Amino acid sequence: LDNGLALTPPMGWLSWTRFGCNTDCVTDPDFCISEKLIMQMADRLSNDGFKELGYEYVCIDDCWLATKRDPSTQQLQPDKNRFPHGIKYLADYVHSKGLKLGIYEDFGTKTCAGYPGSEFYLQQDANTFAEWGIDLLKFDTCYSDSHDNKYGYPAMSMYLNQTGRPILFSCEWPYGELQQNLTHDDYGEVRQYCNIWRNFWDVGDSFESVKSIVKYYGTNNNLFQKYSGPGGFFDPDMILAGGFGMSHYQQRAQMAMWAMFSAPLIMSNDLRDLPIEARNLLTNQYIIAVDQDPMGTMATKVWEFNGLQLWVKPILPKGSLAIVFFNTNNFGSGTPLSSAAGDIGMSDARGYNVTEVFTSTNLGLFKPSSKLNIRVNPDDAYMIVCYILS
Ligand code: GLA
Repeated sequence: LDNGLALTPPMGWLSWTRFGCNTDCVTDPDFCISEKLIMQMADRLSNDGFKELGYEYVCIDDCWLATKRDPSTQQLQPDKNRFPHGIKYLADYVHSKGLKLGIYEDFGTKTCAGYPGSEFYLQQDANTFAEWGIDLLKFDTCYSDSHDNKYGYPAMSMYLNQTGRPILFSCEWPYGELQQNLTHDDYGEVRQYCNIWRNFWDVGDSFESVKSIVKYYGTNNNLFQKYSGPGGFFDPDMILAGGFGMSHYQQRAQMAMWAMFSAPLIMSNDLRDLPIEARNLLTNQYIIAVDQDPMGTMATKVWEFNGLQLWVKPILPKGSLAIVFFNTNNFGSGTPLSSAAGDIGMSDARGYNVTEVFTSTNLGLFKPSSKLNIRVNPDDAYMIVCYILS
């Protein structure tokens, strides 16, 4: 979407996987979806060094709404107990921290969790979000006829544009069609109206889920690559580093692959209680630089052999590369690999300055004929950045 936003993949935080639809602020006040939770996450993003690295969107997912629209104006309204000061107040607070506020709605008659949807109120809701000072809208597809997505998403995109406020448009189109077994592969249209787009099932806090997403992106590699670039990116869903379900190795493998996809780095975790390993991963300057590369290219899946995949992504300065070996095997002591640099993408005779990303270890200068000897752990990845020598 050519609205000046998402020139590189957006980065930030979203409530869904970690906090879900917990609306019980009476017995679970620190973990329920509330203005307090969102303000605390904004504090952590701005005080703990995330903002400077690009993590700027703090996003509320489903379950912020009251169960009914305002009966006299039909305006959307937040739950009064959990958001007592209203969304405008929250947006002002988030903006005062130098951050941006994202919110969630749904194109259908209800949100996925059953709160009032936007169908029949698209323009009014777009205006409401703009008045409140919203900076990102995640727009879901539950309780809609997925055949209508190709009208509904462009309409909402247009109404957001007409508000005059820059609002990053995060679509769950064509995901809605996947759910209903339609085959909507017209990503050209999706890219025209959305800044980022979910096109696959929700990520879960497990490596099985991450592997299923990587598999889908691998199968459709040629198709997807054409549509990734400044202004529009595929959204394989949230980064789960800092969660409960994956090992440190699995978490870093997810982060590496998302960076290779030029995917949004939108984490869902508890920033008030973040394991140090996850923090180091989420703030790794090499991974972020690969993800945020200005060309916004989606990596090429070069090969897959015995469960090991090779992915290569061009990055700036021109001729440079990021390379990931992604190991889908979950058994044994790892896959040893010895390869000429030229055989895994480093084919330019000028040579490369190579750094292993997870430990930030410089491996030195490589010519195409130089040998790279590595070991890729099961349920893990191995990632290097290769900067071209001039
Ligand atoms: C759908 C979306 C999720 C989340 C939930 C909220 O499942 O795909 O990302 O927004 O709805 O109910």
